[in-house]
Amino acid sequence: MFNTMTVTKAAGALIGSLLFLLLANWAAGALYTVSEPSHDGEAEQAYSIPVEEGGDGGEAAEEQIDFATFMEAADPAAGEKGFGKCKACHKLDGSDGVGPHLNGVVGRDVASIGGFAYSDGMVSHAGEAPQWTPEALQEFLENPKGVVKGTKMSFAGLKKPEDRADLIAYLQAQQ
Ligand code: HEC
Repeated sequence: MFNTMTVTKAAGALIGSLLFLLLANWAAGALYTVSEPSHDGEAEQAYSIPVEEGGDGGEAAEEQIDFATFMEAADPAAGEKGFGKCKACHKLDGSDGVGPHLNGVVGRDVASIGGFAYSDGMVSHAGEAPQWTPEALQEFLENPKGVVKGTKMSFAGLKKPEDRADLIAYLQAQQ
């Protein structure tokens, strides 16, 4: 009888503490969740990484579709200034420098200037994407070495789509 009582008490105590632990755990979880907004930046970033990745893909796809819109709003005068970044290597008078001349490049075949020693990378790129359409140019100019593996064009790229559109609009007018 006494024995049963002790066992019952002990069991009760055990169940009680288990319940307490469960509750404490739940409370901690709840607290953690509630306190999350206070580290907004961190918490958001930690949680939004997968979302951002998805968003990135979406953005890249969107950018391709939207580039026509950037072209419509492009400003050739701003592009002329932007061409300052290319001038060290590219001319617009039909003569070649470190790089091939760029007058007439919009719509021109890739790696098609006779007498210019293109890299193997650029020559094989011509097999995949034979023409410098505005779309092809904007992709290349965003990340030259990423788009044309092994290109000898040492240029980091123009990150802003507006800048690429302005520049392409300027080049379009250079025949
Ligand atoms: C440091 C020198 C350098 C700079 C700066 C540079 N390029 Fe180039 N560019 C080259 C070279 C070299 C090639 C040839 C690449 C190859 O054969 O891989 C080239 C190739 C190209 C081509 C391919 C031409 C063809 O005939 O197929 C285009 C288009 C181009 N450049 C555009 C630009 C634009 C636009 C800029 C400025 C935003 C620029 N480049 C800046 C050196 C340069």
